[in-house]
Amino acid sequence: MLYLKNLIYHPPATPSAILKSINLELAPQQMGLIVGPSGSGKSTLLEILAGLAQKTAGTISWRDQELSPDHLQQLGGLVFQFPERHFCGHTILSELRLGHPELGKERIDQALAAVRLSHLSLSTSPRSLSGGQQRRLALAVQLIRQPYLLLLDEPTAGLDWSMRQQLISLLGELKKEWTLLIVSHEPGELMAIADRCWTLQQGELAVADPASFVTQQPVVQA
Ligand SMILES: Nc1ncnc2c1ncn2[C@@H]1O[C@H](COP(=O)(O)OP(=O)(O)O)[C@@H](O)[C@H]1O
Ligand SMILES: [Mg+2]
Repeated sequence: MLYLKNLIYHPPATPSAILKSINLELAPQQMGLIVGPSGSGKSTLLEILAGLAQKTAGTISWRDQELSPDHLQQLGGLVFQFPERHFCGHTILSELRLGHPELGKERIDQALAAVRLSHLSLSTSPRSLSGGQQRRLALAVQLIRQPYLLLLDEPTAGLDWSMRQQLISLLGELKKEWTLLIVSHEPGELMAIADRCWTLQQGELAVADPASFVTQQPVVQA
């Protein structure tokens, strides 16, 4: 269980806090979804939960253990927005092994199976994959580290309809095993698979009912 209590992020250079006393609880094997407009603090919150930025005040705990940024770096797996822009491996294998040269074939096969990419050759270049496959490879890069908490920043951004559906169905599968926290300014179909939902507005988090979000109907031409 992830607990955030009165989490504040207020860098000295900014006039007001970017995250204002955030309280949140997320149970294992659940998917939490935070919806907020651009600039509301979504990516900042994920960076803190991944141990990449330091909170100003408040606590972050897993069960009854308070977590330091070092713990968070080990327990959290952050998939950045547009993760494919940060690929550095020349092959799928080298991308998965970056920073973990010791990883055996079994772990690699497991991670690729979890994101439904087992059919690809390990020598394939990540750059030659489709947009949806690249997004799933980026997920595998985090899953292979076996984090407690998978953090996803705008996971469906820039994907076309069918790739988005594939990714959403995959995330629905992944939550059977992992705890997921997703942030998005355009949640769309992610709502349907979320167990918990919040809105973030100018750094203030509030509980939301997924059913209360009005989904935009496609415009039908007469
Ligand atoms: N370290 C920082 N110092 C100053 N301002 C920051 C810092 N980190 C983020 N911000 C500002 O905080 C706000 C929230 O940013 P961000 O978390 O990227 O929002 P979102 O992901 O919701 O678009 C933005 O106005 C951004 O410019
Ligand atoms: Mg962002």
